[in-house]
Amino acid sequence: MCGIVGYIGSQPAAPLLVEGLQRLEYRGYDSAGLAVLGRTGTTVVRTVGRVRGLEAALPKRLAGKVGIGHTRWATHGPAAERNAHPHRSEDGRISVVHNGIIDNATALRAQLTSAGVELASDTDTEVLAHLVARSGADTLEGAVLEALDRITGTYALAVVDERHPDRIVVARNGSPLIIGVGDGEMFLASDVAALVRHTTSVVHLDDGELATITATGFGTFTADGEDTGRTPVEIAVAAEDLELTGHEHYMRKEMLEQPDSAEAVIRGRLDERFGTARLDGLNLAPRELRGFRRVKILGCGSAYYVGQLGAQLLEELARVPADAEAASEFRYRNPVIEPDTLYVVVSQSGETADTAFAVQEVKRKGGQVVALVNVVGSTIAREVDGGIYLHAGPEIAVASTKALTNMAMAFAMLALLIGRVHDLSVADGKRIIDGLKAIPAQIREILGQEGEIAELAREIAGSQSAFYIGRVRGFPVAREGAQKLKEVSYIHAEAYQTSELKHAPLALIDESMPTVAIIPDDDLTDRNVAAAEQVLARKGPLVAITHPGVDLSHLGIRSIVVPRSEPELDPILLTIPTQLIAYHAALALGHDIDKPRNLAKSVTVE
Ligand code: F6R
Repeated sequence: MCGIVGYIGSQPAAPLLVEGLQRLEYRGYDSAGLAVLGRTGTTVVRTVGRVRGLEAALPKRLAGKVGIGHTRWATHGPAAERNAHPHRSEDGRISVVHNGIIDNATALRAQLTSAGVELASDTDTEVLAHLVARSGADTLEGAVLEALDRITGTYALAVVDERHPDRIVVARNGSPLIIGVGDGEMFLASDVAALVRHTTSVVHLDDGELATITATGFGTFTADGEDTGRTPVEIAVAAEDLELTGHEHYMRKEMLEQPDSAEAVIRGRLDERFGTARLDGLNLAPRELRGFRRVKILGCGSAYYVGQLGAQLLEELARVPADAEAASEFRYRNPVIEPDTLYVVVSQSGETADTAFAVQEVKRKGGQVVALVNVVGSTIAREVDGGIYLHAGPEIAVASTKALTNMAMAFAMLALLIGRVHDLSVADGKRIIDGLKAIPAQIREILGQEGEIAELAREIAGSQSAFYIGRVRGFPVAREGAQKLKEVSYIHAEAYQTSELKHAPLALIDESMPTVAIIPDDDLTDRNVAAAEQVLARKGPLVAITHPGVDLSHLGIRSIVVPRSEPELDPILLTIPTQLIAYHAALALGHDIDKPRNLAKSVTVE
C-alpha cells in the first residue's frame, strides 16, 4: 500500500533506493520513483509499473548520496507518471514521498490553485510539496511542521530540500516508518524488509513523531518540538529470509515453509504437563482470562476468515461465546464495547489500517484488546495490550499462506489457554497439544501431494467461476479457499455453507461450474456427501477435500485426502490443499502470482 525508502550517507543513493523499493514492491506496484539530491540539484525519475522499469530508466551518472523513493498503490488518480512519487514543488526545490491519505487534499488543492500554484498531478501528496515550499520557516523541520499543521489524514512521509541537502525530514501518522541506523549512513523505509541487508539497528517511529536524518545520526521529536530521544533496537530478521532461494515464486516458497513455520509458532508455548498453552505475551493472568464472558475477533480478508475459524475453536474448546467480524466494518457500526469481552485482532502485517482503527475504537471505549500479529514491532503489535507473535517469518507474496496457518495455530493455543481456565479437562488439553505437535509433519505430508493437486488445479483453471462449499468447521476453509483462488488466479469463486447450496446457488451448477467441497470425517459427513451428490446430479464437476476413511468411491470423483488431526484442528490441514489449488491454477493461467493485479500486501489505507 505504497512503500517509501530513503538513504543518506557516503554511497550513491540511487542503487540503494532501487534495491529498497524492490523489497517493498509487494506494497504497491502501480508506479515507482525516486529523487536524488546532487551537486547540481535534484534528479527525479518516475515510471509507471514495476521498480525494474524505474531502474532501467535511471540516468547512467546519478552520484548523489541523499535520496528518497516510492513504490505506489494508486489511491488518488490513476497509475500515470504524473501521479507517481516523488512529488515536487513548482521550483523543484522540495521533493516528497508519502504513504497514506490526506483527507483534506481536495480543499487544499483548491486553495493552492487559487493562490496561483499549477498542480502537476491528481494526487493528494502533491499538496505537501507545495505547502512545504511555501512555508516561511528557516528550517526544513519548521516547514514540514507548518505543512503538517494544514493537513488531516494519515502519512509516512519523507521530504528533501535542495536548501538543506544534509538531511531528510520524515514524519509518521498512521502509516509505518522505520529508521535504519548504519555506520556513517542512515536508511528509512516503510518496512524492515528494505533495510535488513544494510542494518538490523532500527527505530520504529510512533504516530505523531518526526525525525531529522543526517548521514551521521538522527533526532526524533514531536509536533511541539519536544525531543522524543528514541534509541535504536536490534531486529532479528535475516536477509536470507527475504530471498526467493531458488523458488519461482514467494507464494510457493512460503507454502513449503509451513511445516517449519507451524513448528515455530508452537515452540516453547505448549505446556504438556498441565495440558495448556504458555502465552505470556498476552499479559493476561488466569483470573483475568476467567473473567471474559465473550471473545470478539477482528481482522480483514483472509485474516477475518481465520478469525472465524478461531471463533469456532474458542467456542469448542473454551465454551466461551466467540465470533469474528470484518475489522473494516466494525467501527462504522458504533459497536458496543463490553468490559467482559476479550477483543482479539488478527493481522499478518500488523499494519492493516482497517484493523488498526478497530483497535483504536475498542481502546477508546475502554475494551481490552490483544493481537495475533506476524510482523514484530508493527503498528498493531505496539498499540495493543498484549498478544501472540506468529513467528511465521517474513511473508512477501501478496497472497497470505504460512501466516494464516500460524494464525489458526495461535487461535488453537489461545482457545486451549482460555479453555483450561474454564472447563476444558487436562486430558482434552493434552489431546489438543498432541494434535498441534503433529501438524507440521502433517502439513509436509499434504505438500507432498502437490503434483496431484496441481493437476486438479489446472482443470479448475479452465473455468470462469467456481464454488467452495463447507459446513461449520469447513466453512471458513471454503471461504479462504475461494478467496485465494480469486486473488491469484482471477477466477471468480464463491464460498457457501454446503447447507445453503439448495437455497439458491444450486441454480448455477452446470458442467462449467466446478465445486470444491470440504468433506471432513465428522458428524456432518453424510450430509456433505448428500450435497455433493446434488451437485453431481446437475453435472457439476466436483473435487472433494476429505479425510481417510470417508467413502466417496460411489461418486466417481477425484479427492484430495488430508491426514486427520483432532477434529477441532482439522480446518488447519483442510486449508492447505486450497492454497495449492489457487497457486497452480494461477500458474497455469500465467499470472503474476506474487503480485496479483490491483492488490497490495499491506493495506495501510482505509
Ligand atoms: C489474502 C490476504 C488478505 C489479507 C488482508 C489482511 O491472501 O492476504 O486478504 O489477509 O489484507 O492483511 P493483514 O493480515 O496483514 O492484516
